Amino acid sequence: MSMHTQPKRLTVPQLTAMKGQRKIVSLTAYSSTIARLIDPLVDFILVGDSTAMVGYGRPSTLSMQLEETIAHTRAVVDSTQRACVIADMPFGSYQESNEQAFRNCAQVLSRTGCDALKLESNATLASTVAFLVARGIPVMAHIGLMPQFVNVMGGYKAQGLTGQSRQAVFEDARGNLDAGAFSLLLEGVAEPVARAITADSDKPTIGIGASPACDGQVLVTEDLLGMGGDHVPRFVKQYADLAQVIRDACTQYAEDVRRGTFPEAKHCYGG
Ligand code: KIV
Repeated sequence: MSMHTQPKRLTVPQLTAMKGQRKIVSLTAYSSTIARLIDPLVDFILVGDSTAMVGYGRPSTLSMQLEETIAHTRAVVDSTQRACVIADMPFGSYQESNEQAFRNCAQVLSRTGCDALKLESNATLASTVAFLVARGIPVMAHIGLMPQFVNVMGGYKAQGLTGQSRQAVFEDARGNLDAGAFSLLLEGVAEPVARAITADSDKPTIGIGASPACDGQVLVTEDLLGMGGDHVPRFVKQYADLAQVIRDACTQYAEDVRRGTFPEAKHCYGG
């Protein structure tokens, strides 16, 4: 009879236990190439629905499809060994009913082998989070600036800057923590609000544009590498200018091909 083997990957409880011990580090990956490179460097990899914009060049995350999430998450899981892998549930795949949410989340977990799922979840959707957690699905709740609500918000706007908005973010945090979310992802949240939620929560908060008060940080990998396009959000720190490196290398290649200096003899067979 087969025995349960000890997982080599960082597990969700291990991630949760990092709160108060050390900062949690995360980046996004949608492809095998990036996933393999960042696997030894981060605690968890997020297969974000930002794939729709970064990977497919679409105007928002709303068009991300469940089958695309499954394909990209499988690529990341299959290319990594160490980091916990968390997949973003796409718009329309979990908001209709608890049953729809469970069916689609179960598909993503069972067909990809990822460790947990992230849902953009306000206080209303927290009951869905409770339904999923009770049925064995670990959920990271994304609150604050929720890109899947872009049409309701009328743009991508930082949250928690006014009294009413502060109250809403607090309620979303409390609702999801009470529902059993193992972590909160805070996007575009005012520093004092992020600080208060982090202090009040026994579960780790992961920030993106939500100040160093959070228990960990996540960024879109292409943004920190300088490959994210012309608009760089205020919360991004660019650690490299890979766009320029790629342009230079490809320009050199094009020149070599046009001049006939590539390929050389050493690149040829049977000469
Ligand atoms: O989709 C994504 O990449 C995300 C991050 C921006 C947190 O949700």
